Amino acid sequence: MVHAPSWRVLAASLFLVVGAGSASAQSAPVPTKGPGHAAIASANYLATNAGFEVLGKGGNAFDAAVAVSSTLAVVEQQSSGIGGGFMALLHRASDNRDIFIDARETAPKAVDMKVYVGKDGQPNRDTSTNGPLSAGIPGEPAGLVWMAAHYGKLPLSVSLAPAIRIATEGFQPDARFLGTIEDRKDVLARYPASAAIYLPGGEVPSAGWTLKQPDLAKTLQRLAAKGRDGFYKGETARLLVDASRGAGGNWTAADLEAYQAKEREPLSVDYKGYRIVTAPPPSSGGIAIAEILNILAGFDLAKLDVAHATHLTIESMRRAFRDHNEYLGDPDFVKMPLDMLLSKYYADGLRATISPDKATPSDLLPAAMAPEPGMHTTHFSVIDAEGNMVASTLTVNLEFGSAFVAKGTGVVLNDEMDDFALVPGQPNAFGLRGALANAPEPGKRMLSSMSPSFVFGADRTAVIGSPGGSTIITQVLEGILAFIDGKSATQITAQKRYHHQYLPDRVDVEAGVFDDATTKALTDMGHVLRNRSPWGFMNVVTWDHRTNTLDAASDPRRPSGLGKVQ
Ligand code: GLY
Repeated sequence: MVHAPSWRVLAASLFLVVGAGSASAQSAPVPTKGPGHAAIASANYLATNAGFEVLGKGGNAFDAAVAVSSTLAVVEQQSSGIGGGFMALLHRASDNRDIFIDARETAPKAVDMKVYVGKDGQPNRDTSTNGPLSAGIPGEPAGLVWMAAHYGKLPLSVSLAPAIRIATEGFQPDARFLGTIEDRKDVLARYPASAAIYLPGGEVPSAGWTLKQPDLAKTLQRLAAKGRDGFYKGETARLLVDASRGAGGNWTAADLEAYQAKEREPLSVDYKGYRIVTAPPPSSGGIAIAEILNILAGFDLAKLDVAHATHLTIESMRRAFRDHNEYLGDPDFVKMPLDMLLSKYYADGLRATISPDKATPSDLLPAAMAPEPGMHTTHFSVIDAEGNMVASTLTVNLEFGSAFVAKGTGVVLNDEMDDFALVPGQPNAFGLRGALANAPEPGKRMLSSMSPSFVFGADRTAVIGSPGGSTIITQVLEGILAFIDGKSATQITAQKRYHHQYLPDRVDVEAGVFDDATTKALTDMGHVLRNRSPWGFMNVVTWDHRTNTLDAASDPRRPSGLGKVQ
């Protein structure tokens, strides 16, 4: 028989006015002196090396982050770029301050929901994921300029130099890059400026191909020379608007001029002696991670066998994901019950609905909309010699974003409009269904799952994050729990993964994550397990304060990444 959850407790907790949770970060327990050397882990060795190049020129972690981000915009364009956006957590050692930079894209002023609905009333996925109407106003250039100006030590001409050099001289794209061109070739072929770059001779290039991007180099040079105005005004802005409108898009010069990167207060949650600092809305990831940790805080997982500890974690994921899309959106547009969601009392109520040994079918929980996982985006982590840190997750949404390159710029526009709830009640690329909080409005940021995070303990610190759509949240959660269990960066990135997101009601499992006995025990408890190919691309750095050693690791599932300590 299925255990009946205590809905009275859950319902009561929903309406509690509480003060126990905290939406703001307090100072974290980090050493007053830095590690004396640096660590960077990113999805591409050229980007990691660019970060070290800029550290070698006297830069700090924030300058290195500008170098890594801009280099990824050249060498891993399928995942992120200056036509997209990012969310970054910064830790400044000099005043022990945590800062969140929100460089998420915004809807253009002329956004029109009708274009994303087909004649049959179903979502028009072609418009929301391909071509210029799928693109939000980019945030990455403004965010990088903000980070350099407020936290870096070097001019953009130095921190953008590696990216400009690689775009000019060229590089050999790896198999993953070529594979994503293959995946997106039909859409890339629709747009002449995209086909000219990625489909030379009309074909998907083979291994050994050198990709030079002179237009992108010039766009980056204008950014380096003029800062924000080098992208959001002048020649680049004109080229972007002309290209968008010339291909049926709706951007205007005023949209670009109006774009602002924003600083927001990071979220903070205490868990078993550790302080986790993570992303606030418009990310849903930090809220979900905090909610799951608050539920788990009431269990002694270490005393349980793997099957029961996993069961309780899955049940906590299920409940946090239920809230994920119900309430959240752009904080500048939507009032959200964050105090409630982050409250220990709310977590107590949710925990009381969990049976110790029976899965709760998701359809027994109050109905809400739920996301599907996706495999895009990129993440990198940095610690410098002074102890400054950056956790940054960057995206153009799906592979190669909209697949639309604005002629003359080399910039691939994102397809982040699909992250809005464009058609009420209907799923987007990640299965996200419409909730009003995430409906598009002019100038509004679309909800994200990006969850760059810090974990601060008395003896150790971690900088952590991953791409992967809604699986970002469970990957980062499992990484945080592994770090708290004493695992190294190398072990955290290699550890096998599982994922539950409320709906569909199943546990996605990577081969090898559970032994036969655990699989049987979970199945007997009522969990439906589905095997799935490996997912994610974690890039993690850790700092052991006792030995002053750093560890940097890039996900072993993806050979192009590099974690390096120097
Ligand atoms: N575009 C994926 C995300 O922001 O979560």
